[in-house]
Amino acid sequence: MMKIVVLSGAGVSAESGIKTFRDGNGLWENHDIMEVASTEAFKRNPALVLDFYNQRRRQLQTVEPNSAHIALAELEKHHDVTIITQNVDDLHERAGSTDVIHLHGELLKARSTVDENLILEWKDDLNIGDCCDNNHQLRPHIVWFGEMVPMIEVASEIIEDADAIIIVGTSMQVYPAAGIIQYAKANAQVYFIDPNPSINPTKRISVYAEKASTGVPKVVEKLASMS
Ligand code: OAD
Repeated sequence: MMKIVVLSGAGVSAESGIKTFRDGNGLWENHDIMEVASTEAFKRNPALVLDFYNQRRRQLQTVEPNSAHIALAELEKHHDVTIITQNVDDLHERAGSTDVIHLHGELLKARSTVDENLILEWKDDLNIGDCCDNNHQLRPHIVWFGEMVPMIEVASEIIEDADAIIIVGTSMQVYPAAGIIQYAKANAQVYFIDPNPSINPTKRISVYAEKASTGVPKVVEKLASMS
């Protein structure tokens, strides 16, 4: 069994119908990202931010995992797989992946605005007035711009142990997420799948310049045949 780490971004969910951040018109679902995904935005206009994430949460209930999520889940039959995702959707879990680390939080969770460790499952809309048991307003359990990424240390340690790394659907522009690749072993093989790849192939990096739905199953088939 190999230890395989997957680093996924918005592109893996694009074909399920969830928009990426930096493709197209530079807006995210018609918003400047800093207007909806930053601590300043939540201070300035909490209702707008809550409403934006309510829409994302509702949209998530209408979409399904695609063949890339499903292939990654199937890879667990052959290898020890950990998925480190920048995505806040639950499509990797719904496809059947059992070891998923969300670097940027989870849409289906809410947390206290006062105690960041008080985290609740949250499937419905989240509104002003929705409070935890300590009577503090709840907010989406999302890592916004301007906030620390608490899972980054755990993720860096996991990537250190990887024999192979699959990177899929990320522009590799957002740090610290993009930086964890530097913790990989020098001989870890990297498979990079993105129709618009941000890196060039080398002896160690195989680039699949195609969509996740076709590229991921190819890489999974290749890895499944290796012991
Ligand atoms: P980006 O929107 O920056 O990049 C999406 C990547 O997916 C691009 O490289 C596209 O070429 C690629 N892509 C598009 N369609 C694809 C498909 N069908 N198959 C495979 N790849 C495809 O998204 P991320 O890199 O995930 O953070 O963005 C990182 C973070 O920036 C997000 O987690 C988010 C955002 O700010 C927060 O909200 C905190």
